[in-house]
Amino acid sequence: MTKPDPLLLAAATDVRMNAYAPYSNFKVGAAIRTVDGHIHAGCNVENVAFPEGTCAEAGAIAAMVAAGETKIAEILVIADAATPVPPCGGCRQKIAEFAGPGAMVTLCSTNGAARDMTVADLLPGAFDATFLDHPATELS
Ligand code: THU
Repeated sequence: MTKPDPLLLAAATDVRMNAYAPYSNFKVGAAIRTVDGHIHAGCNVENVAFPEGTCAEAGAIAAMVAAGETKIAEILVIADAATPVPPCGGCRQKIAEFAGPGAMVTLCSTNGAARDMTVADLLPGAFDATFLDHPATELS
Protein backbone atom coordinates (compact mmCIF):
# COMPACT_ATOMS: atom_id res chain seq x y z
CA MET A 1 0.00 0.00 0.00
CA THR A 2 1.20 3.50 -0.86
CA LYS A 3 2.71 5.48 2.02
CA PRO A 4 2.30 9.17 1.21
CA ASP A 5 5.18 11.57 1.77
CA PRO A 6 4.49 12.96 5.28
CA LEU A 7 5.31 16.61 4.48
CA LEU A 8 3.17 16.68 1.34
CA LEU A 9 0.36 14.89 3.15
CA ALA A 10 0.48 17.38 6.02
CA ALA A 11 0.50 20.38 3.67
CA ALA A 12 -2.45 19.08 1.65
CA THR A 13 -4.38 18.04 4.75
CA ASP A 14 -3.86 21.45 6.37
CA VAL A 15 -4.80 23.51 3.32
CA ARG A 16 -7.87 21.33 2.74
CA MET A 17 -9.30 22.74 5.96
CA ASN A 18 -9.41 26.15 4.25
CA ALA A 19 -11.27 24.90 1.18
CA TYR A 20 -14.29 27.02 0.29
CA ALA A 21 -16.81 24.41 -0.81
CA PRO A 22 -20.26 25.47 0.43
CA TYR A 23 -22.01 24.09 -2.69
CA SER A 24 -20.47 20.62 -2.99
CA ASN A 25 -19.37 20.22 0.63
CA PHE A 26 -16.44 18.37 -0.93
CA LYS A 27 -13.23 19.88 0.40
CA VAL A 28 -10.04 19.09 -1.49
CA GLY A 29 -6.41 19.85 -0.68
CA ALA A 30 -3.40 19.54 -2.96
CA ALA A 31 0.31 19.93 -2.32
CA ILE A 32 3.14 20.08 -4.84
CA ARG A 33 6.82 19.41 -4.26
CA THR A 34 8.85 21.18 -6.91
CA VAL A 35 12.10 19.86 -8.31
CA ASP A 36 13.81 22.49 -6.14
CA GLY A 37 12.26 20.90 -3.06
CA HIS A 38 9.72 23.55 -2.15
CA ILE A 39 6.13 22.77 -1.22
CA HIS A 40 3.14 24.75 -2.50
CA ALA A 41 -0.43 24.02 -1.48
CA GLY A 42 -3.92 24.87 -2.68
CA CYS A 43 -7.56 24.11 -1.96
CA ASN A 44 -10.74 24.23 -4.00
CA VAL A 45 -12.56 27.58 -4.09
CA GLU A 46 -16.16 27.36 -5.28
CA ASN A 47 -18.46 30.08 -6.57
CA VAL A 48 -22.21 30.52 -6.71
CA ALA A 49 -21.74 30.66 -10.49
CA PHE A 50 -20.62 27.03 -10.41
CA PRO A 51 -18.23 26.92 -13.39
CA GLU A 52 -16.21 29.74 -11.83
CA GLY A 53 -14.99 27.50 -9.04
CA THR A 54 -11.40 26.32 -9.03
CA CYS A 55 -9.91 22.98 -8.04
CA ALA A 56 -7.34 22.40 -5.33
CA GLU A 57 -4.74 21.34 -7.88
CA ALA A 58 -5.21 24.60 -9.80
CA GLY A 59 -4.73 26.53 -6.55
CA ALA A 60 -1.52 24.69 -5.75
CA ILE A 61 -0.22 25.25 -9.28
CA ALA A 62 -1.07 28.96 -9.06
CA ALA A 63 0.81 29.22 -5.73
CA MET A 64 3.82 27.46 -7.27
CA VAL A 65 3.92 29.73 -10.30
CA ALA A 66 3.36 32.83 -8.15
CA ALA A 67 6.40 31.77 -6.10
CA GLY A 68 8.48 31.67 -9.28
CA GLU A 69 8.61 27.91 -9.83
CA THR A 70 7.30 25.84 -12.74
CA LYS A 71 8.57 22.28 -12.29
CA ILE A 72 6.50 19.72 -10.38
CA ALA A 73 8.40 16.72 -8.96
CA GLU A 74 5.32 15.26 -7.27
CA ILE A 75 1.81 16.23 -6.26
CA LEU A 76 -0.56 14.84 -3.65
CA VAL A 77 -4.35 15.31 -3.60
CA ILE A 78 -6.62 14.55 -0.66
CA ALA A 79 -10.36 14.60 -0.03
CA ASP A 80 -12.93 12.88 2.14
CA ALA A 81 -13.91 10.05 -0.19
CA ALA A 82 -14.30 6.30 0.19
CA THR A 83 -11.39 5.72 -2.16
CA PRO A 84 -8.37 7.95 -2.94
CA VAL A 85 -9.54 10.94 -4.95
CA PRO A 86 -8.16 11.40 -8.50
CA PRO A 87 -7.62 14.78 -10.17
CA CYS A 88 -10.37 15.81 -12.60
CA GLY A 89 -9.64 15.79 -16.32
CA GLY A 90 -8.87 19.49 -16.51
CA CYS A 91 -6.46 19.25 -13.60
CA ARG A 92 -4.67 16.34 -15.24
CA GLN A 93 -3.89 18.62 -18.16
CA LYS A 94 -2.88 21.45 -15.80
CA ILE A 95 -0.53 19.13 -13.89
CA ALA A 96 0.96 17.81 -17.16
CA GLU A 97 1.86 21.38 -18.13
CA PHE A 98 4.38 21.50 -15.28
CA ALA A 99 5.32 17.84 -14.68
CA GLY A 100 7.10 15.15 -16.65
CA PRO A 101 5.18 11.97 -17.54
CA GLY A 102 6.93 10.07 -14.75
CA ALA A 103 6.09 12.55 -11.99
CA MET A 104 4.26 10.97 -9.07
CA VAL A 105 0.66 11.85 -8.32
CA THR A 106 -0.45 10.49 -4.95
CA LEU A 107 -4.21 10.15 -4.55
CA CYS A 108 -5.35 10.17 -0.93
CA SER A 109 -8.45 9.87 1.18
CA THR A 110 -8.84 11.32 4.65
CA ASN A 111 -9.58 7.72 5.70
CA GLY A 112 -5.87 6.90 5.20
CA ALA A 113 -6.13 5.14 1.86
CA ALA A 114 -3.60 6.24 -0.75
CA ARG A 115 -2.56 5.29 -4.25
CA ASP A 116 0.43 6.32 -6.32
CA MET A 117 0.03 7.02 -10.02
CA THR A 118 2.14 8.87 -12.56
CA VAL A 119 1.16 11.78 -14.77
CA ALA A 120 1.33 9.39 -17.76
CA ASP A 121 -1.01 6.96 -15.98
CA LEU A 122 -3.53 9.75 -15.51
CA LEU A 123 -3.21 11.39 -18.90
CA PRO A 124 -2.04 8.94 -21.56
CA GLY A 125 -1.57 10.42 -25.01
CA ALA A 126 -1.47 13.93 -23.60
CA PHE A 127 -1.65 16.97 -25.82
CA ASP A 128 1.60 18.82 -25.24
CA ALA A 129 3.76 21.58 -26.68
CA THR A 130 5.36 19.22 -29.21
CA PHE A 131 2.12 19.43 -31.21
CA LEU A 132 2.45 23.18 -31.64
CA ASP A 133 4.28 24.51 -34.68
CA HIS A 134 6.18 26.94 -32.51
CA PRO A 135 8.04 26.30 -29.22
CA ALA A 136 6.75 27.64 -25.92
CA THR A 137 9.13 30.41 -24.94
CA GLU A 138 9.16 29.53 -21.24
CA LEU A 139 9.89 25.82 -21.62
CA SER A 140 13.42 24.55 -21.27
N1 THU B 1 -12.31 19.16 -6.99
C1 THU B 1 -11.00 19.46 -6.81
O1 THU B 1 -10.65 20.44 -6.13
N2 THU B 1 -10.07 18.66 -7.41
C2 THU B 1 -10.37 17.57 -8.17
O2 THU B 1 -9.51 17.03 -8.84
C3 THU B 1 -11.74 17.05 -8.17
C4 THU B 1 -12.78 18.05 -7.81
C5 THU B 1 -13.30 20.02 -6.37
C6 THU B 1 -14.08 20.87 -7.35
C7 THU B 1 -15.33 21.15 -6.56
O3 THU B 1 -15.11 22.28 -5.74
C8 THU B 1 -15.50 19.93 -5.68
O4 THU B 1 -14.25 19.26 -5.67
C9 THU B 1 -16.58 18.97 -6.16
O5 THU B 1 -16.40 18.63 -7.49
